[in-house]
Amino acid sequence: MPVATALAHPNLALVKYWGQRDVALQLPMNDSISVNLSGASTLTSVTWDDALESDQLEINGAPATPQTALRVSRHLDHIRTLAGTKVRARVLSQNSFPSGIGIASSASGFAALTLAAAHAAGLRLDSRTLSSMARMGSGSACRSIPDGFAEWSTSPDGDSYAHQLVPQDHWELSIITVHFSPQPKAISSLEGHRAAPSSPFFETRLQHLSLTLETVRRSILERDFRTLGMTAEREALSLHSVAMSSQVPDHPHLSGIYYWQPETLALIHAVQKWRAEGLEIYFTLDAGPAIHLLSEMSSRTPLLDALNDVLPLLDGKLILSTPGKGARLIADSE
Ligand code: DP6
Repeated sequence: MPVATALAHPNLALVKYWGQRDVALQLPMNDSISVNLSGASTLTSVTWDDALESDQLEINGAPATPQTALRVSRHLDHIRTLAGTKVRARVLSQNSFPSGIGIASSASGFAALTLAAAHAAGLRLDSRTLSSMARMGSGSACRSIPDGFAEWSTSPDGDSYAHQLVPQDHWELSIITVHFSPQPKAISSLEGHRAAPSSPFFETRLQHLSLTLETVRRSILERDFRTLGMTAEREALSLHSVAMSSQVPDHPHLSGIYYWQPETLALIHAVQKWRAEGLEIYFTLDAGPAIHLLSEMSSRTPLLDALNDVLPLLDGKLILSTPGKGARLIADSE
């Protein structure tokens, strides 16, 4: 039976994707830039088995929820169409990190799934095609395909994919993710994307983004940490300002979307204080309570010392990363 196994890292957006231009095609309203997180990964194996009557999906050793299983089956349909087959698949997926903490397991998950499923089906797709296909499973998954730092463009012709800006060894940044007890996310990223245009600040955010993208792109190419850090931190706050001022039709009791927890805010304040004291670190946040701390490698040890003082109070856990590789095959036999 054709089988393949792939590994992919989640990615951290330095310029965020927030809002969709086309919901069915998962086309973003804006371009975004990310870096793969080497310290977290998803390992997925796909076996095409003509004895199966339906796709089977296990995540971390347990059957997936019907909702996730359906999302994966729909994704496998794209690969079946391309490969010209109707055979069903057995998918086993393992995350090295907890879900529901603010690291997108869907990004690493759909990147690894796309590569493993396509390869096992006999398709030999280039990075651009894999990225474009991964996008159909989860928008940000397209950025987990290339190595290192990636930029995802809103191509108006519908073929929207991420390309590599620079590989992982261009810049050994330190990224420390601080996460707290997993909590079910009240509002999914999908709902967040749909609600975004209802914020009075959404258009303003979009208008500022071309300058933000240019600044982040340049600061990565020139390894200008101070500019990257402050721009990425303000950019994350811009997304959260939009989220907090969005209206979510299905949740009329909510005045806005709040992804932060008290622990997140405690660390936001701690970062400002540490920076004032001379420790050059910046934060960014995705759609969850985890906070990602960016620094140069020389500041990692002093930052870990500073974190040691506050983490027991917050019950926080750490994931240590540097810029990671893109999705890759681990083993296959056909
Ligand atoms: C805040 O639609 O890619 O992380 O719901 O997990 O598929 P899933 O997420 P997705 O949205 C990601 C939103 C974000 C910003 C970003 O990664 O650019």
